[in-house]
Order: sequence, then structure tokens, then C-alpha cells
Amino acid sequence: MIKDAHLVEIRDCEFSDMPDVARIHVMSWKDTYRGLVPQDYLDGLSIEVRQRGWEGIFRDETNEDSNVFIAYVDNVPAGFVSFGRARDVSMKGKGEIYAIYLLKEFWSKGVGFSLFKKAGEALLKAGFSECYLWVLDTNKNAIDSYLRWGGSLAGALSKNEHIGSQPIKEIVVRFSLV
Ligand SMILES: CC(C)(COP(=O)(O)OP(=O)(O)OC[C@H]1O[C@@H](n2cnc3c(N)ncnc32)[C@H](O)[C@@H]1OP(=O)(O)O)[C@@H](O)C(=O)NCCC(=O)NCCS
Repeated sequence: MIKDAHLVEIRDCEFSDMPDVARIHVMSWKDTYRGLVPQDYLDGLSIEVRQRGWEGIFRDETNEDSNVFIAYVDNVPAGFVSFGRARDVSMKGKGEIYAIYLLKEFWSKGVGFSLFKKAGEALLKAGFSECYLWVLDTNKNAIDSYLRWGGSLAGALSKNEHIGSQPIKEIVVRFSLV
């Protein structure tokens, strides 16, 4: 259910979508993590560099069982979700949402939920009955949405990393797909 009667189209990404995915990724990072990670790190993010990254992922056959869905709202590229089999050994046999990012103007309209549902359906079809994702423990907006989507922090795994010079902590949110 998308608010305010917008036309929302969600489809599998093609190589030609990588510029849009990269722009959404970088612009959403800048809005999402402002004040949560070093500003100079965010200022240094480049859409061109991210685009080459995504094109590399797309070309890399070893990623054959990972997918990227892109969402359009009224024909405007609004967000994407990438997902596939778990990357963490401790989560073997589960599906993983690798990334889900919307442009700020499309937050809290249900587009994220629709992207998540599509990814969940694809993971279930691929034989996964559970999935998970990593989220910054300071990203309250995202954590709130995930819990409303039915996610749980139960037995939350965590990992400590750095973004730029700043130590950060990521936690796991789990979802049942059945
Ligand atoms: C995090 C993010 C993907 C969440 O997606 P979103 O579209 O903004 O959030 P939601 O899907 O929760 O949108 C809320 C609306 O979705 C719908 N919705 C959400 N959960 C629902 C559910 N379980 N059943 C039915 N509808 C639901 C409702 O319409 C809800 O509106 P309401 O709260 O007024 O009822 C998005 O905000 C975003 O891209 N944020 C910035 C980047 C980011 O943090 N990414 C995650 C990094 S880990």
C-alpha cells in the first residue's frame, strides 16, 4: 500500500539502471547518515565511483544469485533493494538484504515496505524461509520501519566497524519469510 495514490513500479534491475542505483545510493547515504558518520566521509562519496562499483557487481558472475530491484514512483527512480544468499557464515541457509535505500523525498510512503516485500517473495521462491540485514544501531528511522515490517532484534548479532575515522556498530534484524 503506497500513500497518496502514486504509480509505483518495482522491477529487476538491468545494467543500464546502474547510474540510477548509484545516484540513489549516494544521495540517500548523504541524507541518511548526516550526523551519524563523519561529514567529510559523506562529502567524499562519489556517484561515478559508486556507479563503477555497481557495474562491477552486476558484471561479476559469482553474484549470479544476488539480485537488485529498483522502484519507480510516477516513473521517477526512487529506491532500490539488493539481496541474495547470506554472506555471513553464521547465517548460512538464510537470505540477506544487502542494501535498501530510497531517496529522501520518498521516505515513509510505503515504498521501502513494497521493495522489501518483493525481495522477500523472491527469497522465499529461492528457498529461503528467513532473511536478515545489518543496520547501524544509530539509524533509528530504518530500525523503526524494520520492526513495523515484522522484523526482530532477537539475539541481535552485532559487529563493530569504522566509517571513515568513526567507529560504528551494526546490528542484525531478522525476518521470517513464511
Ligand atoms: C529505511 C527505509 C528503507 C524504510 O522505507 P520507508 O518506505 O521509508 O518506510 P516504510 O515502508 O516503513 O513506510 C511507512 C509506510 O509503509 C507502510 N507499511 C510499513 N509497514 C507496513 C506493514 N507491516 N504493513 C502494511 N503497511 C506497512 C505504511 O504505509 C507505512 O506508513 P504509516 O507508517 O503511516 O502506516 C527508508 O526510510 C530509507 O530508504 N531510509 C534511508 C536509507 C536507510 O536508512 N536504509 C537502510 C539502511 S540499513
